[in-house]
Amino acid sequence: ETKILKVDPKSILFSETAHIDGSLPTITDPETEQNLLEAAKIIRETENTVGFPTETVYGLGGSSLNDKSVLNIYKAKNRPSDNPLISHISSIDQLNRKIYGQESCTDVLQNIPQIYRSLTEKLWPGPLTILLPVPHHSTLSKLTTADQPTFAVRIPSNPVARALIALSDTPIAAPSANQSTRPSPTLASHVFHDLKGRIPLILDGGACTVGVESTVVDGLVSPPLLLRPGGFTWEQIRSMGGPQWANCKVENKKTVSEGEKVRTPGMKYRHYSPQAKVILFAPQEGDAPLEERLETVKSVIKDHARDVSGFAVLSSLTFPDSLLDDARGVYRCLGNSNTEIQANLFAFLRQVDEMPNVDIIFVEGIDEEGEGLAVMNRLRKAASNNVVSF
Ligand code: TXA
Ligand code: MG
Repeated sequence: ETKILKVDPKSILFSETAHIDGSLPTITDPETEQNLLEAAKIIRETENTVGFPTETVYGLGGSSLNDKSVLNIYKAKNRPSDNPLISHISSIDQLNRKIYGQESCTDVLQNIPQIYRSLTEKLWPGPLTILLPVPHHSTLSKLTTADQPTFAVRIPSNPVARALIALSDTPIAAPSANQSTRPSPTLASHVFHDLKGRIPLILDGGACTVGVESTVVDGLVSPPLLLRPGGFTWEQIRSMGGPQWANCKVENKKTVSEGEKVRTPGMKYRHYSPQAKVILFAPQEGDAPLEERLETVKSVIKDHARDVSGFAVLSSLTFPDSLLDDARGVYRCLGNSNTEIQANLFAFLRQVDEMPNVDIIFVEGIDEEGEGLAVMNRLRKAASNNVVSF
């Protein structure tokens, strides 16, 4: 049995410096406090895992320090265990004590390399994940790091996530709380759908506001790398990181070159995939008038939808609902800005995928600027090699 317990993020109050000094939050709603304590006890005292909200997506958390907890995470979501996990901490103080084993530090920031200081100062708590060298007598489970010389760490900004980590006083390893290969969860109901019967507890703190996972950066190489586009944009990382980040490179930036119709991203794992086939339309630069470009889209939809019982169209900024003159199709608009599109992406993919007759999901992609880079990264993976330029 999987319990869902409600928590109210607005009732959890942290001081300005809590993410540095580790001071505990004030929780004004007794039910929220009780439910958080129940979840924190599972993390601290058992090898079980808990579903919980972060600002990006829901996470499936267990102690980063305990092999069995980490194993249970991989097991619950069927994730290949050579894919390392992010350790979520509530404060730098907790990082020092629990991961570096340092009870008192003269300089609280001593374990944050200079290269990250500007980013962590401006963007933590928040959807930024950094890589740090695994310390010599590390308390981290080797399963968290998949035996790598570095580990990934972030301080989330969602009050429920922060409180859970602070109250358990344990670094929490947490991938997204979906079945491996499925779209990431942005609601507690998504977690329940994918993991019911496999985990004891889900904290329901409402919808995730960011909607894609954290931005993962590696400052231990030169030039620094953006390993995964996410909640903070590449532009933000470059402008806020200080001089060395100005020429930060994007690992594997995928763009469709001109005239290229279908591309095959060489990826190790299937990812973000609904059951239905996804066909992604990627906007092309050029002067072709929109009407003409939409004619291309219409004919591609017509071709692919010929033999299916139903399909969905997820539009972004330009596809009108008049694109659809076929009663078998459902139309949804992902949003009117990149931020909205990013926030709704996973929920809408799941929503139309649940509809009994939807065999194909056509999605209108966006330019890879700002949030567009993370959105297109997820959509290209969801679409596997089915990308059509328009
Ligand atoms: O927003 C998020 O980051 C969410 C929420 C729950 O916090 N978590 C999440 O975790 O997306 P996951 O496991 O799905 O993604 C972790 C990413 C993967 O791309 C993984 O390869 C990378 O971080 N990663 C972790 N440790 C690494 C390491 N030592 N070196 C390189 N990449 C690493
Ligand atoms: Mg994931």
